[in-house]
Amino acid sequence: MHKRQFIKNVLLAGIGTPIGMSSFAQSFENKKNVPANTLASDDAFWNEIRNQYILKPDYINLENGYYNFLPQPLLNKFIEHIKEVNLQGSYYMRTVQFENKKKITARLAGVAGCSADELIITRNTTESLDMVIGGLDWKAGDEAIMAYQDYGAMLDMFEQVQNRYGVKRIMLSVPNHPKNDEEIVSLYQNAISEKTKVILVSHMINISGQILPIRKICDMAHEKGVQVIVDGAHAFAHFQFKIEDLNCDYYAAALHKWLSTPLGAGMLYVRKDNIKKVWPLLADGEKDVNKINRLNHTGTHPVHTDLTINDSIDYFEMIGAERKEARLRYLQNYWTSKVRSNLKIVLNTPADASRSCAIANVGIEGIEPADLAKRLLNEHQVFTVAIDYANIRGCRICPNLYTTTAELDHFVKALTSLAKS
Ligand SMILES: Cc1ncc(COP(=O)(O)O)c(C=O)c1O
Repeated sequence: MHKRQFIKNVLLAGIGTPIGMSSFAQSFENKKNVPANTLASDDAFWNEIRNQYILKPDYINLENGYYNFLPQPLLNKFIEHIKEVNLQGSYYMRTVQFENKKKITARLAGVAGCSADELIITRNTTESLDMVIGGLDWKAGDEAIMAYQDYGAMLDMFEQVQNRYGVKRIMLSVPNHPKNDEEIVSLYQNAISEKTKVILVSHMINISGQILPIRKICDMAHEKGVQVIVDGAHAFAHFQFKIEDLNCDYYAAALHKWLSTPLGAGMLYVRKDNIKKVWPLLADGEKDVNKINRLNHTGTHPVHTDLTINDSIDYFEMIGAERKEARLRYLQNYWTSKVRSNLKIVLNTPADASRSCAIANVGIEGIEPADLAKRLLNEHQVFTVAIDYANIRGCRICPNLYTTTAELDHFVKALTSLAKS
């Protein structure tokens, strides 16, 4: 083999090296016939995952929504990639950088349920969504529908589009406890006018954990000729779905949240016939307007983060999407079911299991959300985040796979005693 080809093969092989945790993987193999819903309550089994994390002893972390930091096997992989790229330097960047990214994108597309030529890896959800929001061909008078519960940075981007192009933002408010999907769909439907160009909608509202009926919203919107941009920052690798089944136009997600990649990884799906409708954030040499690459110019960036996406997919697939979703939903129901009937405790997340997963939001009558977060941390060593806008006033509670039911018992005790105080 030619020497250069040999080196290239070695570099390419690097992205596929197994993650090196065979005894752990064996535990999953041993449980492969146990239904996901049964395994969800098997604390001893999930404790093996917990053992793969180094956790701070100072507090119980119930704020995993911002960043799902890495378990040790993934952290080690990330460090290996940093070392390798640092060793090869420009040689890596000039030889297999793009080929590796292409391979990883193709694998990610398989997990996301879309075609590889409709997906790009970005730095985060914000970059993905803002590329679409800022890059559409807006005309003065166009209308865009969004909710007060959508993420602030996207609402800010729409405000910029409003100031820049004369687009009108139509705001609606999503109820915390909808009666059914139709109530949500008609909220969006009633906001549509003949000027509506786009709906922005969250797959999971980040401050309450409510999952919205995206497929039904998209079907309704398309009947009226309106495009739908979905903010899936919290949905991907959290609960199961395939992007293609959602019938949306654009879908953005973070990878550093539920897929547990290192910080600085996101993705953007653009349905094939929409690729030409978006002006790229950074112009690329790809001049074919139908090729997704034209939206993926990044400049030089931390390629070792991209490489670790492959390992994070290994880890995710070893756990299994169904098992992960079932355990996360179990953990949320475990604590919410213990406090839902307490009249002083307010849950801002629907009780219906299909409308939530790991995340829920809780307030206490008479305690400001910021004070609640402070008291949970200072008096009970529970770390959360206070939310106090739109119709959501409380602390967001976001466990992860390493969270134990004993920690949640401690949290429930803390909530109950604060509610009494
Ligand atoms: C609903 C939602 N959208 C967008 C974002 C921004 O994500 P990123 O930090 O990946 O840009 C977040 C972050 O928490 C979010 O919760």
